[in-house]
Amino acid sequence: MTRVPFVDLAAQEREVASEVLGVLGEVASEARFILGPRVEAFERWLARACGVEHAVGVASGSDALELSLRALGIGPGDAVVTPAVSFVATAESIAAVGARPVFCDVDPATMNGGARTFADAIDRARRAGLRPRAIMPVDLFGRCAPLGALRALAAADNLLLVEDAAQAIGARDDGGRPAGSAGDAGCFSFFPTKNLGAWGDGGAVVTPRADVAARVRRLRAHGADEPYVHSELGRNSRLDALQAAVLLAKTSRLAAWQDRRARAARRYADELEDLPLVLPADATAPAVHAWHAFVVRCERRDALQAWLRSRDVEARVYYPVPMHRQPCFASLDEPDLPEAENVCRTSLALPIFPAMRDDQQSRVIEVVRGFFDGA
Ligand SMILES: Cc1ncc(COP(=O)(O)O)c(C=O)c1O
Repeated sequence: MTRVPFVDLAAQEREVASEVLGVLGEVASEARFILGPRVEAFERWLARACGVEHAVGVASGSDALELSLRALGIGPGDAVVTPAVSFVATAESIAAVGARPVFCDVDPATMNGGARTFADAIDRARRAGLRPRAIMPVDLFGRCAPLGALRALAAADNLLLVEDAAQAIGARDDGGRPAGSAGDAGCFSFFPTKNLGAWGDGGAVVTPRADVAARVRRLRAHGADEPYVHSELGRNSRLDALQAAVLLAKTSRLAAWQDRRARAARRYADELEDLPLVLPADATAPAVHAWHAFVVRCERRDALQAWLRSRDVEARVYYPVPMHRQPCFASLDEPDLPEAENVCRTSLALPIFPAMRDDQQSRVIEVVRGFFDGA
């Protein structure tokens, strides 16, 4: 019987392994392991791909978020509004700089925070005596948040905008703008399973602002603008040359990999359409969905996941607990956010990855259909 893993990273890496191993040999012989020309070349590629002036490679997506906030001067006494449905790193970065995360609800159709839910949370924060300084939308599962409306909201309210595009490289928003380019800073993760993945951890900040780029560069290297002279305290958060070489070697394949994801998403949409599931809508041009994850919603989510697991199909719950109900944020005493809670109760990510074979996807579809047929 066909076993279907949630993601078969090894199969994807096999496509690039010989090329990447060759480049890694070159890096070893150059022995320029930290920052250097390969990191700079990758930064140039990323800035161009995002249509922004600057890109700065850092050690992870989490650091990209945290250093962006620090570079924008956000810290104690400030509040940052962000959706309650995301990976913890989004809100964690806010707390890490000493600011207060304020959670907004999400739009059930996209699972992203929208202009209305952000505005509600900003009002709530102000009524509670907090000082919102920034909004941090997340392009969840590879779909851009409604960034045009959020830019307008931020501009009207004099707020900074930091976009968590960790899951969305290659996506475009409803105005056709590349993910990451919406605001004062856009943050990417190159965690190995991301659509563009390193062979280890990696991340980057993209920004149209020279001041933000310069400060992230300084912060990633212990606050130094020149060797051993530290104008502020930073940390070590450098992207290394080996990871930059892996990422550069993969850039030429990113579009083809995204096409394969999009094809698989279309097939799921066509072949699961008649079931009592909520399927993710495709993006309407000029928007582009990067399909980092294909997340369906189902009232009997846990039973569906167990059914799939018992038949060797691995589906994952992204995310079981919304941020405002995480133990680590309990002291914030945030109010109920009903749509976010519903998303976390009902959402299930089906396998989608560029190396997924047709027979593997046929098996996922057959087993999902079997769950409802037998019900
Ligand atoms: C939405 C989101 N934000 C931030 C991160 C953090 O990225 P990293 O794992 O590279 O630190 C991730 C990924 O793991 C993510 O999915």
